[in-house]
Amino acid sequence: MRIEIDNVAKGYPRADGSRLSVVGNLSTAVEAQEFVCVIGPSGCGKSTLLGLLGGLRRPDSGEIRFVGERGADGPLTSIVWQDYALIPWRSIVDNVAFGLELRGVSARRRREVAREHLAMMGIEAFADAKPHELSGGMRQRAGIARALASDPEVLLMDEPFAAVDAQTRTLLQDELLQVWSRNRKTVLFITHSIEEALLLADRIIVLGPRPTRVVEEIRVPFPRPRDRDVELDPRFTELKRHLWAQLRDATLAAEWAEAKGER
Ligand SMILES: Nc1ncnc2c1ncn2[C@@H]1O[C@H](COP(=O)(O)OP(=O)(O)OP(=O)(O)O)[C@@H](O)[C@H]1O
Ligand SMILES: [Mg+2]
Repeated sequence: MRIEIDNVAKGYPRADGSRLSVVGNLSTAVEAQEFVCVIGPSGCGKSTLLGLLGGLRRPDSGEIRFVGERGADGPLTSIVWQDYALIPWRSIVDNVAFGLELRGVSARRRREVAREHLAMMGIEAFADAKPHELSGGMRQRAGIARALASDPEVLLMDEPFAAVDAQTRTLLQDELLQVWSRNRKTVLFITHSIEEALLLADRIIVLGPRPTRVVEEIRVPFPRPRDRDVELDPRFTELKRHLWAQLRDATLAAEWAEAKGER
């Protein structure tokens, strides 16, 4: 599924009646089966953009189009959040099956599908546990299993690994790459980590300060399948340096605007 983001703007009302402009006439596209990472300064509007793509919010102006054949009967998009967003009183397997339940899939079938996805993420053994019994990494595995079990056309991920420890993060990155290489969903993945973006993405979209728009789009040149060895490639260091500079400029611009009271 190709995503076309065409001149999209979004703001929020402020207490004083004025409007905080968050996404400002942003245009870009994500190709079918592409893995795109989005980086940008804190508070620039990344999550807002994801919410627009996930249909949780409507743009004030502009248009978002999903172009391509819809598969079976999964949803258009499914979101993996940083804080897992699991339902606390449901078992892990019933959390993962939740989307299928909403679609009226039979109890037997949805548990079957949920268990397959738990196995895929290596947490089958926790099927009957409650979310609070799991570590952060395990919960995030469940969050990913839940998003994939509903079989979406597009997977939207909002800093999914930001809350887990570094070692778990490494594992989850590898697992996500493996799963993605098998199912090839279109993925839009927000991250604060340039290294993570360079490891995961086909392309990196750099967003600027609020009201955010695309500053730069970079194709990541490393062949797949990838592993951590990409960090040894001289181009990795080169791109990392370049992206850091971009991000630093955008962050400074944001702080400058803040200091001048523009926002
Ligand atoms: N529902 C809302 N109502 C009012 N303001 C909001 C709302 N959601 C977000 N904002 C504001 O919009 C701006 C962008 O928020 P958003 O969460 O999209 O940024 P972000 O890039 O995801 O930030 P972070 O890097 O912290 O994850 C922030 O200033 C935030 O305070
Ligand atoms: Mg955010």
